[in-house]
Amino acid sequence: MMRLHVVHAVWGIAAAMAGAGALAQTPAGDAAAGAQKNSMCVGCHGLSGYKTAFPEVYHVPKIGGQNAAYIAKSLQAYRSGERNHPSMRGVAAGLSDQDMADLAAYYAAGPGNVAAK
Ligand code: HEC
Repeated sequence: MMRLHVVHAVWGIAAAMAGAGALAQTPAGDAAAGAQKNSMCVGCHGLSGYKTAFPEVYHVPKIGGQNAAYIAKSLQAYRSGERNHPSMRGVAAGLSDQDMADLAAYYAAGPGNVAAK
């Protein structure tokens, strides 16, 4: 039992980031910084309708107002491949942990609630 836990801890960091340890592993997010980084998100996660128009219409989940830890964890899960959606995997692959934390803080506050600088 003890031994398994030690092995798990060594495996660890990636698994923890995708799992319940996300809070401990995630850097503090800065919503204002996130507002500077969301230009590639708005095309899909736009404010109204939450649907993409291209290449075909499909539902895009609403992320504005979501819990920050959930957003950061979702992005990490796409990057790790735990969640598998081609668009989001491509997006998340280019994000650092800090980017994810900033974007999470921004979207958790709700676009429009963050003062543009
Ligand atoms: C090409 C369109 C597209 C772009 C660009 C895009 N997303 Fe997404 N996003 C989606 C789709 C579609 C889903 C739903 C995927 C699924 O079912 O897993 C999604 C899911 C998510 C989720 C999980 C939501 C949930 O309810 O579980 C988060 C968080 C997210 N996106 C954040 C972002 C952020 C932050 C950016 C910009 C850095 C971004 N997305 C850019 C299309 C996009």
